[in-house]
Amino acid sequence: MDSEKKTILKRRIISAAALLPAAFLVVYFSYCLMLGRANIFAVTNIYFAFVPAFLVMYALFITMMIYLSGEKQFTWSCTWLKAELIAFPVIAFTVLINCAMAAWVSPYATPIAFTVLLTGVLISPRTGLYCGLLSAVASAICIAPPVYFYLPGEFGLSFAMSAVVDFVTAFFMLFVINRKYNRFSLIWGAIAVSLGTALIGAVMSLLDGWTLRNFFGGYALGVIGNVVAVCAFTAVLPVFEYFSRIWTDFKLAEVCGLNQPILRKMSEEAPGTFNHSLNVANLAENCAISIGLDPYMARTCAYYHDIGKMNDPLYFSENQTGYNPHDDLIPEVSVAKIRRHTRDGYEQLRKMRFPDEVCRAALEHHGDSPIMFFYTKATKLGGIVDIADFRYDCPTPTTKYSVIIMICDICESMTRAVQPESEQALEKTVDKVIRDKLADGQFDNVDITIKDLENIKNTIVKVIPGMLHKRIDYAKAKEER
Ligand SMILES: [Fe+2]
Ligand SMILES: [Fe+2]
Repeated sequence: MDSEKKTILKRRIISAAALLPAAFLVVYFSYCLMLGRANIFAVTNIYFAFVPAFLVMYALFITMMIYLSGEKQFTWSCTWLKAELIAFPVIAFTVLINCAMAAWVSPYATPIAFTVLLTGVLISPRTGLYCGLLSAVASAICIAPPVYFYLPGEFGLSFAMSAVVDFVTAFFMLFVINRKYNRFSLIWGAIAVSLGTALIGAVMSLLDGWTLRNFFGGYALGVIGNVVAVCAFTAVLPVFEYFSRIWTDFKLAEVCGLNQPILRKMSEEAPGTFNHSLNVANLAENCAISIGLDPYMARTCAYYHDIGKMNDPLYFSENQTGYNPHDDLIPEVSVAKIRRHTRDGYEQLRKMRFPDEVCRAALEHHGDSPIMFFYTKATKLGGIVDIADFRYDCPTPTTKYSVIIMICDICESMTRAVQPESEQALEKTVDKVIRDKLADGQFDNVDITIKDLENIKNTIVKVIPGMLHKRIDYAKAKEER
């Protein structure tokens, strides 16, 4: 067994051991909450129900642990350990609140929406669904025995029914999470689901007795419970994001806000680079969608890929307004000045704790390509010139995001410098960029298909004309009339 497998096994054993007291405590405190109304010491009297409930709870926790260790589609920067540290406390919290609500308020005023939203957004949508379903089953296990032995007749079928409502809520919440676009639409989607599922709760509460009070009571409490759960999610998500250092799509959207201090600084000190980054972002976002990647991540990579240029903005042509410092330098020095922006950007982003993909895009977006302008300048000056001395000194792309940024970066600069006359000319230019990079081995270390590259090409050809569209010269048009 190699050391990596040994470490994984060790971690699983530690997790499984830690889950044993956790399962015990969840069941114990749930029983206390449920029986608090009757007699808190009665917990010891139903050990015959407590022991199986505890064992089932532990088994449920273990299935969650196995599921998380096999999950591959985590949110950015979320790891297996972070997922466990979030999922289990949230499940425990949900079960306890469910019990408190069932005992003191209503079995329908449950926080399943909170559980699914929080774990779904922070860990992965599938994990959110799993946590929601597991919390529903775990709550039923904790609620049913005390009700059966100590509180019969008082709550009737409603406890089992509330688990059904929790299941339905969890499933609908998954659609809300998968269709999210911003915080606002996510919250409204969640409230709409809550209104719907509360209706099911209200109908089910009628099974306890057909009265109008039962119906509206069940509905109103269901709605209030879910709305409070959604508000709680909105309030605690930034706290979880901060402490876990997980990058949700909301956080990615936030760092792409143009009021971010670092982006504002870029717009003032390196306006050319800033505009270039905005255009690359527009292209990269569309390319990411075309090959099934996260558009938020692509946009973030694009906004920050040239952040290293801020150390010496005037050495880059897009920021020059007349004076070109390279006129006073030999090509070798110019190349050294230019190529360091990749490493500078990488280090800066690492310090700011950006996700790995964003840091890698800053480091790898030129790979080890040659800087042809200065190579040609050096050959014209004479002497022996080795192209290897004029290459970037960075790794070639290792993620699809780095590939997208590499291609969009060149296409944006080229088409801004020389506007293609026709769509065919544009297609030819983009095609040549991709073929040249492929031939130069820039995509050798990344798992990207020819089909992906074809989709990227077609997207760029479709998006660039919209970015380059010429404005109508109204004064001239008037004169002509
Ligand atoms: Fe660059
Ligand atoms: Fe760039």
